[in-house]
Amino acid sequence: MLETIQWTDDGVVMIDQTRLPREEAYVTCRDYREVAEAIRSMVIRGAPAIGVAAAMGVALGALRADHLDAEFETICDTLAQTRPTAVNLFWAIERMKRLYQSLRGCPVEEIRKRLVAEAIEIRREDIAINQALGRHGAELVPDGKTVLTHCNAGALATAGYGTALGVIRAAVAAGKKIDVFADETRPFLQGARLTVWELMHDGIPATLITDNMAGHFLKSGRIGCVIVGADRIAANGDVANKIGTYPVAVLAHENGVPFYVAAPVSTLDLSLESGDQIPIEQRPAREVTHFFGVQVAPDGAAAANPAFDVTPNRYVTAIITERGVARPPFTESLRRIHAA
Ligand code: MRU
Repeated sequence: MLETIQWTDDGVVMIDQTRLPREEAYVTCRDYREVAEAIRSMVIRGAPAIGVAAAMGVALGALRADHLDAEFETICDTLAQTRPTAVNLFWAIERMKRLYQSLRGCPVEEIRKRLVAEAIEIRREDIAINQALGRHGAELVPDGKTVLTHCNAGALATAGYGTALGVIRAAVAAGKKIDVFADETRPFLQGARLTVWELMHDGIPATLITDNMAGHFLKSGRIGCVIVGADRIAANGDVANKIGTYPVAVLAHENGVPFYVAAPVSTLDLSLESGDQIPIEQRPAREVTHFFGVQVAPDGAAAANPAFDVTPNRYVTAIITERGVARPPFTESLRRIHAA
């Protein structure tokens, strides 16, 4: 099985997602600052995966700190300042903070051990969550059709198995005859580089399309459903996900194709009434003006680079979680699932 992130005696080991698919290289982070940099530079990316990385970063920081009490807040803050949109990052840091608070007064060696164990547990849980979510979602996937996905919500975006790709994996395991169309996902090419690589690795038939082909294929009748992941879901069911998700959802709606979002409960942010309140990460213009190092725009060209967009809840057919499938009206169904 592909290992996205692991805790080892040497530190936190991650597959370097900036180098895939050309090279399968691994990075070892020996310090929490290196984990923060790996998240910021997208060596590791995808909402659940950066949550696991942040938890391991906190554990690593605790293990190496000379004065844990004085340094704990700085460790958490440094990790929290890496990427703003995926709520799983903050969810994981909060979980580590809560454990730390509950251990106040314990010997420092005990505290370090418990924080490491918690981070390893968050990783283990994430894989189990994705497998459960996959089982719920598999029932929704039409047999004999194509599934369209955007970005990478696979094993690489999680501790393993994936959310959107977890549903696809579970549908294939259940014997459904499906294939996948993967949007290339400009500008960072998570679809072309990561989703297609992962699916080929598993022997699931995958076809790469450029983002502007989605409408053409959604209209053709061959796409049975769209399944994407999420970085943050507001209380009303608005979904923040990789830039370009919103137009796919509108096109799916226009063509009567179901649009499913697969995400763990840790991606729900019920403190936000609507998606308008979700902070959207703005990434460097260079990712747009350059195509993996090759300049594709005139010198000095201005470029916008919001990394995520928000799909309004009216375009979302259902949200698939490890606790079951939420359908509209989402304000009620998500509240129920969150409390379950
Ligand atoms: O910028 P990225 O690559 O971290 O964005 C990832 C996505 O938008 C994914 O679709 C999302 O995090 C869900 S991953 C299971």
